Amino acid sequence: MLEGFWYIATQSRHVRFDRPTAVALLNQPIVLLRDRSRAVYALEDRCAHRGVPLSAGWQEDDSIRCRYHGWRFAASGECLEVPALANGTVPKSACVRSYPVREQDGWVWVYIGNDRCLQPTAPPPALPAPPDGSRMVSTRVSVPVKVRMDFAVDSLVDPAHVPFVHNRFFRQQHVAKLKEKEFTRLPLGFRTVSNNVKFPNTFVFRALTPGLALARTTVDFLLPGIHLETLEVGKRFGSIMLIATPLTTEVTRLDITVGWNFLRWAPLAWVVRLTARTTLSQDREILELQEQGNLQKTTMNVGLEHDTMAVWYRRLQKYHLDQLAGVPNLAHPVPEKTTLRWTT
Ligand code: FES
Ligand SMILES: [Fe+2]
Repeated sequence: MLEGFWYIATQSRHVRFDRPTAVALLNQPIVLLRDRSRAVYALEDRCAHRGVPLSAGWQEDDSIRCRYHGWRFAASGECLEVPALANGTVPKSACVRSYPVREQDGWVWVYIGNDRCLQPTAPPPALPAPPDGSRMVSTRVSVPVKVRMDFAVDSLVDPAHVPFVHNRFFRQQHVAKLKEKEFTRLPLGFRTVSNNVKFPNTFVFRALTPGLALARTTVDFLLPGIHLETLEVGKRFGSIMLIATPLTTEVTRLDITVGWNFLRWAPLAWVVRLTARTTLSQDREILELQEQGNLQKTTMNVGLEHDTMAVWYRRLQKYHLDQLAGVPNLAHPVPEKTTLRWTT
């Protein structure tokens, strides 16, 4: 699990004033609070006194009070009050960790750093927006999966499972074709752009591309587990941000945001959510099966061309860790430009 990145903690609407919300990210218990100015802050969900989860306590104005001995903590993590203290001041060391927080695209993002990358150097990734500046509507779905992060990310960069796992919506095996995709490198990821894409004649794509016109798509993968996709047909623009987030060593959550700038008046959001939930549930089923099959020993056959992106993902992790460690003369693990072929 990689530190030095923004991670999705939960949907913005789930964090309410006066209701501490417990989440976990990278095995770290975190409590989210919304203050009176509607800003969200994130603290380590473990009291500095004897470790009781602060989320079991209660919010008092813009601070949170532990329910065991009543220690009270500010948004900065500083301990403001120790009720049982007879005299003297609250020791400076009696504080909890606080995390940088942003709200964007309907999600609460928390930055998880370490000594080598304490503060974020860039904002969280954003849902790609239309180049003409037109307004989009968007909706979002989260599905937790009992699978380790690496297996979940492998599936984000894996074209070969689509006809088998998602055949109902996206592809059918009997229409599988040879694909040739050109990839370019991104600072911590890679990109492929396809022009003149002809989508299969399934209902999802008939809705997106009337008359099944040719589309232009871009797909980016970025560490730690971010898949950004855009689809353009004339002035119609749709985008997907699909993110894998490691909650614990054993559980990874898949969070998807879908946006579109057409038919904004139509009540499409629930159809999009149903489609997204079905798709992610198909991924959940296969990933939990994969986890079962890998309990005793890890089987990883990644020697084939369509598994190249999974290999890049693993090399990018090492590249990021080496960068943080200040290793000199690092070579980017993704070729500047290369073409991969597969049949889906
Ligand atoms: S454990 Fe929180 S105040 Fe004692
Ligand atoms: Fe999938």
